[in-house]
Amino acid sequence: MKYRELLSGFSLSNSLVLRNRIVMAPMTRCFSDNDLAPTGEMAKYYAGRADAGLIITEATLIDPQGQGYPHTPGIYSRKQVDAWKKVTDAVHDNGGHIFCQLWHTGRMAHSSYTGSQPVAPSSIGLDGPLPRAQGLRYEVPRALDREEIGRLVEQYARAASHAIDAGFDGVEIHAANGYLIDQFLHQQTNCRTDEYGADAESRSRFALQVVDAVAAVTRPHRTAIRLSPQAYVNLEYTEGDEATFDVLLQALNERLLAYVHVASFDADLSYAYLGGRPVDYVRQRYKGTVVGCGGFSPEAAESALADWQMNLVAFGRSFIANPDLVGKIRSGASLTAYEESLLGALV
Ligand SMILES: Cc1cc2nc3c(=O)[nH]c(=O)nc-3n(C[C@H](O)[C@H](O)[C@H](O)COP(=O)(O)O)c2cc1C
Repeated sequence: MKYRELLSGFSLSNSLVLRNRIVMAPMTRCFSDNDLAPTGEMAKYYAGRADAGLIITEATLIDPQGQGYPHTPGIYSRKQVDAWKKVTDAVHDNGGHIFCQLWHTGRMAHSSYTGSQPVAPSSIGLDGPLPRAQGLRYEVPRALDREEIGRLVEQYARAASHAIDAGFDGVEIHAANGYLIDQFLHQQTNCRTDEYGADAESRSRFALQVVDAVAAVTRPHRTAIRLSPQAYVNLEYTEGDEATFDVLLQALNERLLAYVHVASFDADLSYAYLGGRPVDYVRQRYKGTVVGCGGFSPEAAESALADWQMNLVAFGRSFIANPDLVGKIRSGASLTAYEESLLGALV
């Protein structure tokens, strides 16, 4: 069989067995309704891809203050939870598994969505236009005080509890791509001198508090985290940032999570300060399940599972262009190429 590894089953935990190692990567689509609840169309979209070993939802807001894009779903209101239940039921009816990606954009939120100034570890803005929002530019955020940081940890836990109510198989904490948690993990966006920023251990504290609060609700084997130690988008690397990820990954080893997911758009890129590819950097430090993502074709994924020693491969854009991606991989059919115009409709 051409894709023996990719199509073989995998136990995320004793109670969560995936039928293959193909993961649908989290992808923001901006098709929620005006109350930021998922729609019937979204249920169809996810259910149609349920033959993936695991689906990770698009990033989903833990609180209205975290919004930075139009029509992104939330999981803080009763209506949203009830609507997500229809999505998870549809996926489960088709034999799939689905995790909810928990999200707060931090300094990338915007007052036109939230009604108030964005919050972040430090008052350091990102210069540039907001994506998917004509004419808006990023605002300078307000630095969070310690009480507010404690409340955010509670909001993540509440969202995790809602995710369980909504029938999700687990949650993935979005700590990558320059959003709130990642802003704590990098020195460019975290200039705090308190226990949330003074040194590598302090900069990893918020992420670990969120992990622990969420895992206390969902249990560790239903809790995962997405990281991008390579600072490749929405913020920049500062010398020494890797020390924070060394501390974080060491601490995650003790927590027996479902997996650590390494975010990128091209997993094959190397970074001198990580000593190579981000997936290898994480693999060398983290003992549990590692998910790789970024630019994989089925062929490259098949060999990466063996050669890179990662356990699962997430496909993003290929799943947008090919709702039947798993079927095509199984039959060896060629894939439809992704184009940005495909983002205009939910198919
Ligand atoms: C339209 C689009 C939306 C995305 N939204 C998210 C998101 O909500 N959360 C996230 O962690 N990554 C997001 N990503 C990144 C993907 O999860 C993935 O890392 C990226 O597409 C690279 O994988 P690929 O080459 O297989 O597409 C998004 C990517 C795309 C193309």
